[in-house]
Amino acid sequence: HIHTQRISLDQDFEVLYEKACEAGIETAFSRAKQTPVPCPFGSAGVCCRHCLEGPCRIGLNGKGPQEGICGANGDTIVARNLLTMMIEGAAGHAEHGRETALALLEASEGNSDYQIKGVEKLYQVAAGLGIETSGKAVEDIGKQVALKALEDFQKQTGVMNWLALHAQQQSIHKWNELGITPVNIHLEISKAVTRTTMGCDADPINLLLGCLTMGLVDGFGGLHLSSDLQDILFGVPKLVKSNFRLGVIKKEMVNIAVHGHVPLLSEKIVEWSRKLSGEAKAVGAAGINVVGICCSGNEVLMRHGIPAASSFSSQELVIVTGMLEAMIVDVQCIMPGIQKVAECYHTEVITTLPYVKIAGSTHVDFHTDKADKAAQDIVRKAIANFPKRDHQKINSFTGTVEAYAGFSNEQIIEALSALNREDPLKPLLDAIASGAIRGVAAIVGCTNVREFQDWGNVTVAKELLKNNVLVVATGCSAHSLAKHNLMNMQGLEYCGESLRGVLKAVGQAAGLESLPPTLHMGSCVDNSRPADLLTAVANRLGVEVKDLPAVGSCPETHSPKALVIGTYFLANGVDVHVGVNPQVSGSQFVTDVLCNGVKDDGLNLEKLFGGKLIYEKDPVKAAAILLRRIEEKRLALGLSS
Ligand code: SF4
Ligand code: FE2
Repeated sequence: HIHTQRISLDQDFEVLYEKACEAGIETAFSRAKQTPVPCPFGSAGVCCRHCLEGPCRIGLNGKGPQEGICGANGDTIVARNLLTMMIEGAAGHAEHGRETALALLEASEGNSDYQIKGVEKLYQVAAGLGIETSGKAVEDIGKQVALKALEDFQKQTGVMNWLALHAQQQSIHKWNELGITPVNIHLEISKAVTRTTMGCDADPINLLLGCLTMGLVDGFGGLHLSSDLQDILFGVPKLVKSNFRLGVIKKEMVNIAVHGHVPLLSEKIVEWSRKLSGEAKAVGAAGINVVGICCSGNEVLMRHGIPAASSFSSQELVIVTGMLEAMIVDVQCIMPGIQKVAECYHTEVITTLPYVKIAGSTHVDFHTDKADKAAQDIVRKAIANFPKRDHQKINSFTGTVEAYAGFSNEQIIEALSALNREDPLKPLLDAIASGAIRGVAAIVGCTNVREFQDWGNVTVAKELLKNNVLVVATGCSAHSLAKHNLMNMQGLEYCGESLRGVLKAVGQAAGLESLPPTLHMGSCVDNSRPADLLTAVANRLGVEVKDLPAVGSCPETHSPKALVIGTYFLANGVDVHVGVNPQVSGSQFVTDVLCNGVKDDGLNLEKLFGGKLIYEKDPVKAAAILLRRIEEKRLALGLSS
């Protein structure tokens, strides 16, 4: 019955899904099939439950009530619900940033299990923030940088430090004129929550501008702040080679999955898994094997070459291999469903933060001043579970796919500087100017249980590569691309000839056979990296980011975080494609503001910022639209057609 339907382009997960169905184990895929059609009102964004007079909902297609009890119309309700999603996304990333800032502060003050490893990055960020560094100790500078970061959660006037650090002047000017520039992260989140409450903001335009403020809070206070401080604490990612797909889970090893987003704990799990491998041998295992899920996986892949087992949508199925001794989770994108699946196996789900627990799971409290102790406890729990495996339930896979990762901007610049030491960006700019590279696309975001896993991400990428667009990737999309050979040399065959030529030239100068067809730039917060690359290119050309032939695409998203990241790019004038319903169709007005172009009568994003939201489910059609947008921007810049 249900398991005859395909769920993933990745065959291994199809096998496990079938196994789970046969064993009567529920997963998100089977639950999604039990609710084949999502609620039509929620899907259109017209369901409001902001007060106790409701919930109210606006009748669809003009039929039924067109206002809630309080008089809020469909435009207000849709815009308000969108802002609520933005708040959720931005708050998650902001909390990620705040935790990292505190970790840096504690490391700088010496009362922590962490040290500053990215000293060069520390100097660079400190200089950008105007912090005097000469003659100061590294810890002293680290403390100043951490305090500047924490100031972004406290200051009552002025502009966020991290926005001033990374944004283009012209953009800041535009945002100031529109009154959307954020002052501090918590202030803006709190204000945005307030305006969405019953009886507050009822102007859909104002609410949509509030969404853009959340985009800026997310982009600078969430993404940039987190990436910068993580690079300072753990080092800037460098080129690494690793593996993807379920073959990375080793039958003879104690397997530990790290899942979530904030790499503070997973860094320590990697470290202690190496140190305690002797204890694993004592229980008959060959050693300890750490594998990644979602973005905690991306973080340890980028910095340590840890292999990746799964993106978001198939996280429960990793347990169905029967070979996972523990799944360690921190925050975000963790399905509560993992616990019930784990109960069918010997797998122990271990939550680690006081505000992210799952009933039935083990909880090991993690804090930076006892990180080593927590990591040791956790690794030992996993070792203790190894003898409890049920060998009847094991499904092992042998296939892995090699992938290159670690493409920080620093790494990209270093590779390019082998071609031009004085002006490393020049080879890239020349390739774009000549048309050998038509433009740049960031394929980002998630996998989504309601989508055929990897299909959208891989298809958009292949279409763009074929047309000589340079593709970078982050988040779970990067998992999709890596699993299907788009981060190793085999995938070069999908590239157009001129793109392939550039990848080879840059790669060979840097000592590789070629650059891989798509560049893994990291986790979701690392969307700061493609943003910084675009800013560097724009600054070097003396134009604005909005003028560049650059696009973002989020083919299989599930998360409000992806919507708010997209909004950050929209505020910078970059076109953003989503392949999944953004839940705004209940308001024509909101849809027009987000999606219409400059030729439209009304006010819209493209007129204000230079880019728009593109909602297209079909990945082939979506890629065609993105290519057209790239060509339009090339034309406007006067680049060769
Ligand atoms: Fe209904 Fe207005 Fe209350 Fe929303 S805020 S539930 S529309 S009365
Ligand atoms: Fe993520």
